[in-house]
Amino acid sequence: MALISVALVAVLVVFHSSASAFVDAATERKEVTYGSVIKLQHERTKFRLHSHEVPYGSGSGQQSVTSFPGVEDGNSFWIVEPSADKEHKQGDLIPNGSTVRLQHMRTRKWLHSHLHRSPISGNLEVSAFGGDDQTDTGDYWKLVIEGKGNIWMQDQKVRLRHVDTNAYLHSHDKKYSRIVLGQQEVCAVTKKNADNLWIAAEGIYFLAKGTSVA
Ligand SMILES: *[C@@H]1O[C@H](CO)[C@@H](O)[C@H](O)[C@H]1NC(C)=O
Repeated sequence: MALISVALVAVLVVFHSSASAFVDAATERKEVTYGSVIKLQHERTKFRLHSHEVPYGSGSGQQSVTSFPGVEDGNSFWIVEPSADKEHKQGDLIPNGSTVRLQHMRTRKWLHSHLHRSPISGNLEVSAFGGDDQTDTGDYWKLVIEGKGNIWMQDQKVRLRHVDTNAYLHSHDKKYSRIVLGQQEVCAVTKKNADNLWIAAEGIYFLAKGTSVA
C-alpha cells in the first residue's frame, strides 16, 4: 500500500510539471473509482477543496480545510476510499448512496466534520483529522448524486453528506482575510442548496475494474 502511494506521488509530480498533458488526460469523462486521487471542485465558485498544515485558530484547533482558487496546487489532492469496515478494491465503482472517505494526499488526514463551529459562518466545522491508522465515523460521507446516473462520474454534480451530522459539505464566497488569505471557508450545513454541489475534476482516475485500456 505504501509503495503504491509513493508511486502515485511520483506520477503526480510528473503530471504536475506538464500541466497540459494533465488536462488532456482529464478531458474524457471517467468513473470516479476507489483509490483514485482527485481534486474536488466547488461547482458554483470553481474553487478546489484544499488542506494544508495550518490548524484552525478556533473550534477544534484541528488541521484546517479551505477551498483554493488555483487549479495547480498539490495540497488539493484527495484519495477516494471506502468506509473502514468495507472491503473495496482499487478501481471499484462508487454507486449513489455509498459511504466514502476522502484522504488528503499530502498529510494523510481524513476529511472530517463534527459539532464545532466553523470560523467564519458558524456552521459545522470541516477539518482534516486522523491518519492512516486513525479513522472514525466522523470521516464518513455519503455520496448523493445530483441529476441522472447511479455511478459517480467525473464532472458530475454530487453532494457529500456527513454521516454523523447529516450536514452537506459546503463552501461559499466567504473568504479568509489572514494566513490563508483569499481562500474560502469550507464547512458543513444541513440545508440542501447550490453551494453544496461539488465536481470531481482533475486527478488520477483508476480504470473501472473490467474496463481495458483502449
Ligand atoms: C441518489 O440517492 C439519493 C438518496 O440518497 C436520491 O435522492 C437521489 O435522487 C439519487 N440520485 C440519483 C441520480 O439517482
